[in-house]
Amino acid sequence: MKLSPFFQKGFCLWFTGLSGAGKSTVSSAVHHTLREHGIANVELLDGDEVRTHLTHGLGFSRADRDTNVLRIGWVCQLLVKHSVPVMTAAISPYRETRNEVRTMVERVGGKGAFIEVFVNASVEECARRDVKGLYAKAMAGEIPQFTGVSDPYEPPEQAEIELNTASESEEESVVKVVRYLDEHAYISGVED
Ligand code: ADX
Repeated sequence: MKLSPFFQKGFCLWFTGLSGAGKSTVSSAVHHTLREHGIANVELLDGDEVRTHLTHGLGFSRADRDTNVLRIGWVCQLLVKHSVPVMTAAISPYRETRNEVRTMVERVGGKGAFIEVFVNASVEECARRDVKGLYAKAMAGEIPQFTGVSDPYEPPEQAEIELNTASESEEESVVKVVRYLDEHAYISGVED
């Protein structure tokens, strides 16, 4: 039997931002790009998908959101421990909870393994897009505790990467993320 050594640093790209800010769009495009460039084992835990499996049944109270985020974080640290790159796209509105995940991931992956990606788009912009039609309902009072409308969103204070999806194209956002990974030696070979 021949085993070929394959070394890859694990990392967790943690996308955070309002519903409709572009977390799913950009993270799935980055996921696709990384896979296309040979990082075959990168995993993507999308917020909506996670809620139908891993955190099925949870609602949107602070306690439930924290449980959701911490469960996702637990899976992330498990993957990072085994050098698997992982990406997540949940609103994850609370700074303290995101920082708890940062600590968990850095404990196994070392400093730098947790990369917070702030997908920054204003409530007004997200409501204008209203991809899922939820902002209109939230603003009409039909969805209680809706992030950005009737529930808080605490933006990161020092995100490693900030994307401004109102002024950048999807491709520009993807390039920003991929470049960051390249500059921090998580991947190599990115060309201009
Ligand atoms: S989180 O706060 O726990 O991180 P998560 O990303 O999993 O949230 O789920 C957010 C998605 O759930 C939104 O994109 C939206 O489709 C849906 N949703 C339903 N109710 C709410 C609500 N009250 N606040 C925010 N999103 C909601």
